[in-house]
Amino acid sequence: MKNTIVVAGATGNLGHRICKELIKMEVTVRAIVRNSSDPKKVDSLKKMGVEIFPVELFNKEELTAACQGATCVVSAVTGLHDVIVDAQLELLHATIAAGVPRFIPSDFSSDFTAIPKGENRNFDLRKEFEQHLEQSSIKSTTIFNGCFADILRYNTPLFNATTQTVAFYDDKADWKIDFTTMDDTAAFTAKAALDTNAPRFLRIASFRVSPNDLIALSEQYKGKRFELVDMGSMERFSAYNKIQRAKDPAGEDELYPKWQQAQYLYSMFLVHHQKLDNDRYPTLVWSKVEDNI
Ligand SMILES: NC(=O)c1ccc[n+]([C@@H]2O[C@H](COP(=O)([O-])OP(=O)(O)OC[C@H]3O[C@@H](n4cnc5c(N)ncnc54)[C@H](OP(=O)(O)O)[C@@H]3O)[C@@H](O)[C@H]2O)c1
Repeated sequence: MKNTIVVAGATGNLGHRICKELIKMEVTVRAIVRNSSDPKKVDSLKKMGVEIFPVELFNKEELTAACQGATCVVSAVTGLHDVIVDAQLELLHATIAAGVPRFIPSDFSSDFTAIPKGENRNFDLRKEFEQHLEQSSIKSTTIFNGCFADILRYNTPLFNATTQTVAFYDDKADWKIDFTTMDDTAAFTAKAALDTNAPRFLRIASFRVSPNDLIALSEQYKGKRFELVDMGSMERFSAYNKIQRAKDPAGEDELYPKWQQAQYLYSMFLVHHQKLDNDRYPTLVWSKVEDNI
C-alpha cells in the first residue's frame, strides 16, 4: 500500500517544496489548507497531484478526518504562539486521535535545544511546543537545518554585498555556520517523513561556512574581497537584542521584527551542528555555497 503523508502549511514556501518531493517519491500527499489560503497556491498543489483538504486547524473533527490513515503528519506552518503552539497542538491532537504514528513539527531552525530561553523568541515558541511533543506518545522527528541559505542574498550584516562587509562576533571569524537551501530541506524532510526509524532530532546543512570563508568567497564570486568587521562580544550582542526587544513591544505581534532578525544572527553564532545527518539518505545531492551567494 502507498504511504500517505499529510502536510500542513503546504501553501507555504517550504511546505510546497515538501509536497513536490513527496509526489516525486510516488507517495499519496494530502495538503491541509485554509479557506483563506491563496487559491493559486492551492491550485498549484492540485496540479501537482496533491489531495486538498480545506480544514481550519481548530476544527478537531475535520482535522482528525484529514489525518485518518496517514503514516506521518508534517507541519510546515509559520507564525507566532497562536500557530506554532496553539494550532500545532490541535494538529498534534488530531494526528494522535487519527492513530497516525509519526509527526514532524515545523521547527526547521538552528538547534534550539542548545539555545537558552530568552535569546530567540521564535525558537522559544518551538521549545514550548517541544514540551508538548515530549509529553505525548507519538514518535516525532525535528529537522534542524541551521539557516536557510537564501539569507546570504539578503544583505544582512553577516554577508552584505551592498556594504561589501562580513560580520563576526567574539573571536568567531572561523566559526562554521550551518546553511541549508529550502529545496535541500524539503528533499530531506520528505525522506524523513517516510523513514519509520528516524530519531527525535536530525541535523543537516547543505554547506557550512565561516565569516573568513565568506571573505574568500566574496573575492572569488563577487569580484571584490569584502571587509571583515568585528562586531564585538556575543555577550554585548545578546544584551543589545534584549534592549531592542524591550523598546519594541509591537514587535511581539510580528513574525520577524528587527530584534528577532538580530536574534537569528545571534543564534547562528551561538550554536552549530557537531555532527551532520546528511548521509542518512544517500541519494540526496546537497547544494553548494557558490550557487547561493
Ligand atoms: N531556518 C531558517 O532560516 C528559516 C527561514 C524561514 C522559515 N523557516 C521555517 O520554515 C518553516 C516554513 O516557513 P515558510 O517560509 O515556508 O513559511 P510561509 O511561506 O510563510 O508559509 C507558511 C504556511 O503556514 C500556513 N499558516 C500560517 N498560519 C496558519 C494558521 N493559523 N493555520 C494554518 N496554517 C497556517 C500558511 O497557510 P496560508 O497559505 O493559508 O496562509 C502557509 O501554508 C517554518 O517553521 C519557518 O519558521 C526557517
